[in-house]
Amino acid sequence: MTEKMDHQQLSSKDKRYLWHPFTQQQEWEKDPDIPVIVRGRGTTLYDAKGRKYLDGVSSLWCNVHGHRVPAIDRAIRRQMGKIAHSTMLGASNEPAILLAEKLVRMAPKGLTRVFYSDSGSEANEIAMKMAFQFWKQTKPARPKKDLFLTVREGYHGDTIGSVSLGGIDLFHGIFGKLLFKTFQLKAPHHYADRKVSETLWLSDCVRDAEKVFRKYGPRMAAVHMEPLIEGAGGMLLHPKGYLRTIRRLCDRYDVLLVLDEVATGFGRTGTLFACQQEGVSPDLLCLAKNLTGGYLPLAATLATERVYKAFLGAFGSMRTFYHGHTFTGNQLGCAAALANLELMDEKFIKGVREKGRLLGELLEPLKSHAHVADIRLRGLMGGIELVKDKATGEDYPYELKIGYKVCAEARRRGVLLRPLGSVIVLMPPLGIAKRDLVRLAEVITASIERVM
Ligand SMILES: Cc1ncc(COP(=O)(O)O)c(C=O)c1O
Repeated sequence: MTEKMDHQQLSSKDKRYLWHPFTQQQEWEKDPDIPVIVRGRGTTLYDAKGRKYLDGVSSLWCNVHGHRVPAIDRAIRRQMGKIAHSTMLGASNEPAILLAEKLVRMAPKGLTRVFYSDSGSEANEIAMKMAFQFWKQTKPARPKKDLFLTVREGYHGDTIGSVSLGGIDLFHGIFGKLLFKTFQLKAPHHYADRKVSETLWLSDCVRDAEKVFRKYGPRMAAVHMEPLIEGAGGMLLHPKGYLRTIRRLCDRYDVLLVLDEVATGFGRTGTLFACQQEGVSPDLLCLAKNLTGGYLPLAATLATERVYKAFLGAFGSMRTFYHGHTFTGNQLGCAAALANLELMDEKFIKGVREKGRLLGELLEPLKSHAHVADIRLRGLMGGIELVKDKATGEDYPYELKIGYKVCAEARRRGVLLRPLGSVIVLMPPLGIAKRDLVRLAEVITASIERVM
């Protein structure tokens, strides 16, 4: 069987049997050119036709050191030689224990307990349920604190709880009736109203937050948000000081702060955790994606001792956190995570900052392009926003699929990207070599110029 036949067979079976995430299958089924990835090495992916691609979107924002990293491969193999999985209900396991210790040591101050799950959505769902239950059980109990404050354009995953916390109408609108109600703060990114200056917009957002806290603070269980940059909402940057302001308000009104660092965590924004750039520690922290270096599905929700203690009591007290998944604390995932984090030293994080700066410089000329409204970047996380009319900020119509067209052009040029509407996502693997970063910037620039 030739490589080509392999591709054809796999591709037709893909179209016959699979249903892909966030994908209009009707168009997918007609696209003959979709790569079927068969292997990877470093930041390169190889498809069944033998074509090579730069993994420009870190295999959906989770790849850290590239593919086939010898130390992570070895750690998984070593663990496989012992056991792949056993339950955390009624037993514990070695890599889960060691990883929990490592995470607590690495995490922002005050986070002392680790609760595992399998995806970013679940990590958020768990944090939300912990915050809700916390107020019923803390001493003195405050059961009326049951409201959640979230941020417009936020994204926390696709399970119903995490969708309730999200604020992206395109993804979440249709499920409205299934969701619980949250209060939403204005998106602190200037994008929400281009007509006012950024400083004015920030003070408006802070005033908005203060007003909501004054009114609902005593009833609020938690603020649940992404720190510094709202990823899926369009790579929307928060202005400096916004997160610190929210932390201050949470402290003043005794509200838990839940930070979703599923996308930003583990070096992505140029510090180990994004919240450290504002000197902020949350009460609950959600982690996934980069945790295993992009190898295996593993997530964690970290809690402070104050939160944890509210769940302690005699067996009959019903204070238990009744939540868990079959693969909670899976040994292979935890072994991969341990090996991944071992490689994530200060030098590595410094390298992310340097590469982020370089990527910004490489893309600088695009700023003058007639359809590039904005280039936003924090470390190696960001996006290029395309607009139909730069003067008015008018967006391209959704059905024009402008982001997809740019990404299809990049694919033809050997780079895999994934857009968010008309924002071209910048999310290369953190360990990307500088020469590949140069290539990434060249291909993105050429693809935008070609399509627009
Ligand atoms: C900030 C944030 N939270 C949660 C999620 C959901 O994670 P998962 O896709 O692993 O469920 C994502 C995924 O992109 C994310 O960016």
